[in-house]
Amino acid sequence: MNGRERFLRAARGQPVDRPPVWLMRQAGRYLPEYREIRSTQSFLETCRAPDIAAEVSLQPFRRFGMDGVVVFSDILLPLDSLGLDLDFTPGPVVANPVTDEAGLARLEGSVAEAMAPTCQAIRALKRELGDRAAVIGFAGAPWTLAAYASEETLSRDLVALSALSYRDPALLDRFLDRMADVSAETLRVQIEAGADVVQIFDTWAGMLAPDRFERFAGRALRRVLEALPAGPDAPPVIVYARAAAHLVDAIAALGTDVISLDWRVDLAEVAARLGDRISLQGNLDPAALMAPPAEIERMVADLIEQGRKARGHILNLGHGLQPQIPVEGVGAFVRAVQESASAQ
Ligand code: CP3
Repeated sequence: MNGRERFLRAARGQPVDRPPVWLMRQAGRYLPEYREIRSTQSFLETCRAPDIAAEVSLQPFRRFGMDGVVVFSDILLPLDSLGLDLDFTPGPVVANPVTDEAGLARLEGSVAEAMAPTCQAIRALKRELGDRAAVIGFAGAPWTLAAYASEETLSRDLVALSALSYRDPALLDRFLDRMADVSAETLRVQIEAGADVVQIFDTWAGMLAPDRFERFAGRALRRVLEALPAGPDAPPVIVYARAAAHLVDAIAALGTDVISLDWRVDLAEVAARLGDRISLQGNLDPAALMAPPAEIERMVADLIEQGRKARGHILNLGHGLQPQIPVEGVGAFVRAVQESASAQ
């Protein structure tokens, strides 16, 4: 079974020879060959040069042969086309955040144009990879996009967005609708370019209590999901939310194919409760890749066992790889999944 087929089958809940594996942020600063490329150009320049973006996306695949290759880009790239003045230092900085009605009215521009280099990188990845791995496109969820767009540098408590949700919820609704359209368009153009599967990152949804998730982030996320192609051949959709153990059921009810769990969630419990309806992704603590290889192998075997009750399980971390993670830890993680085939 090739990597692309393995990935798609697991996402759709069909039998596989072993679970597929990839890692969020698998292209990035923990790799010396990535740092080498970044020594001569900025992060945004790298995203906007399709050949280099494709090359950077392939770097982890060449080393480890994951079953999924995520295109090198950023969830905030489309905001740039809407007139937001965006920079990365390395975290995102928005010089002119949206704080009121006038700021919202100012947002116009072509998402397709902003995403053109990413789409070209996807076409290059498809040519290079064939069926060896699934090409993964992605976008930010409306709530998370609005969080970054509403502050110059994001505060841990999402001060601006939380204030707006109580001060003027109707304005926040319009803001989220706008971000939902951006998110859907970002995914749509990547699917047209050939993305096999797409992931929506709701990194900050976990800040919301369940009722407020339904009211704001969940409602907008449903709008995105409803705008995407449906049917048995449509690319499967993965929804990731961080620190959102209290939202797992609400997210699963939105109609996504896969839910990506962070490491604070008990994967076995979710697999037993919801696993006949939805595939799972995750959920090793990224810091666990600091452990000795034998310990990583043990943790992977345990995760695979936990995921068996689900209709499908895609091995991944519970959040993105950090720059300080050793390359050997990533290798041990991927290898442990690949070698689990004989144990199925
Ligand atoms: O390998 C991959 O996963 C593909 C590329 C990718 C990046 N960002 C590249 C990147 C993906 C999927 C993202 C998603 C993203 N971007 C999210 C959702 C995932 C998450 O981490 O919760 C968010 C919230 C962002 C916004 C963003 N971009 C942040 C918070 C940062 C700083 C993070 C850091 O590690 O310093 C970025 C910059 C960024 N995006 C980098 C990379 C490789 C580091 C920039 C650099 O190389 O200088």
